[in-house]
Amino acid sequence: MLSTTHTIHHTDSRDLNMIDSDSVDLVVTSPPYPMIEMWDRAFADLNPHIRKAIDEHDGRSAFELMHQELDKVWSEVARVMKTGAWACINIGDATRKVGDRFQLYSNHTRITNALFSLGLDSLPVILWRKQTNAPNKFMGSGMLPAGAYVTLEHEYILVFRKGNKRVFSSPAEKQNRQTSSFFWEERNIWFSDIWDFKGIRQPLSHSALRDRSAAFPFELAYRLVNMYSVHHDTVLDPFLGTGTTSFAAIASCRNSIGVEIDDNFDGLICSGMDSAVPFANYYVSRRLNDHLKFIQEYEERKGKTKHLNSNYSFPVVTSQEVTLALNYVREVLRENGTYRATYEEDYSIRDVSSSPPFPNTTLSKDQLTLSF
Ligand SMILES: C[S@@+](CC[C@H](N)C(=O)[O-])C[C@H]1O[C@@H](n2cnc3c(N)ncnc32)[C@H](O)[C@@H]1O
Repeated sequence: MLSTTHTIHHTDSRDLNMIDSDSVDLVVTSPPYPMIEMWDRAFADLNPHIRKAIDEHDGRSAFELMHQELDKVWSEVARVMKTGAWACINIGDATRKVGDRFQLYSNHTRITNALFSLGLDSLPVILWRKQTNAPNKFMGSGMLPAGAYVTLEHEYILVFRKGNKRVFSSPAEKQNRQTSSFFWEERNIWFSDIWDFKGIRQPLSHSALRDRSAAFPFELAYRLVNMYSVHHDTVLDPFLGTGTTSFAAIASCRNSIGVEIDDNFDGLICSGMDSAVPFANYYVSRRLNDHLKFIQEYEERKGKTKHLNSNYSFPVVTSQEVTLALNYVREVLRENGTYRATYEEDYSIRDVSSSPPFPNTTLSKDQLTLSF
């Protein structure tokens, strides 16, 4: 039976000694954001000089010291990545007044330089557009010139690769890569450099609880996992938070390792595992149903495609999609501290009329005791 494992370590990811060097195929993560106030305490816990720099209104030193703590994680991340593995880092820049100086702290530039210095190659980034219509979104001198600032309405997904391109050499590796393919129409959206999740059906994934924990949308993690890894790969998130990356790995038939310093998240992730199964299966069925809709419209406009997917017997646009397979999750069980997901080998197309809640969002506020 197909299965994957999902390990969660409640420890500090500045030291990843429990993970072997050259063992991870993909990193998907979002660190605490330097110079965003909600993370000041977390950074000050890592290095007390950070609190001192903020108190002394020395924003530049605080920014650099915060990044020096993240650098230790990036160094570990680079060590555990295999040659050819990818790292996708979601980060936003910060605007902040420290003392009497208001300025931008360019987190994405600092992290890009850090990974570049570690020898990773930087690749085209994705802008995650988070447009806001809030009336107070403009900062500065209003309608008077030379004193206003444009609004930050995007975050980055920085993309890196360690060393040369990954090689799929054996027939089994090649077959697994084909099975892990995505649809042509998904490629056209996923590989564009601006992502805007408005209009994406993500049941409850933006609840207040998830916003409080700075979780990224499931769709973000799910796309990255499917774009940059194949079935049964190992995906690492060194800043796991609510477990979104692990849930995305479960839904995508990948193994995962999550590291999170705050063990208050453990209960949250554990309860989320129950709803991970219906949620993952909803995502799988939705992709299949969306494909059926797409192909119907495509064939009406362009005529019959030349290719048929052998698992589902539906038309696909290219020959790369003919053995594409999406696995439904059977169950997720906790075994000796690790979660084990098993999968159905059933290539039916299920109904998507009801959308289950995203893992974790059914918890009440009282059940969530995060420490910030
Ligand atoms: C931006 S949040 C990640 C949210 C996550 N992507 C999600 O979807 O829930 C950053 C997380 O990193 C954790 N963290 C901060 N410093 C850490 C460290 N040194 N080691 C491990 N985790 C850390 C924080 O507790 C927080 O949960």
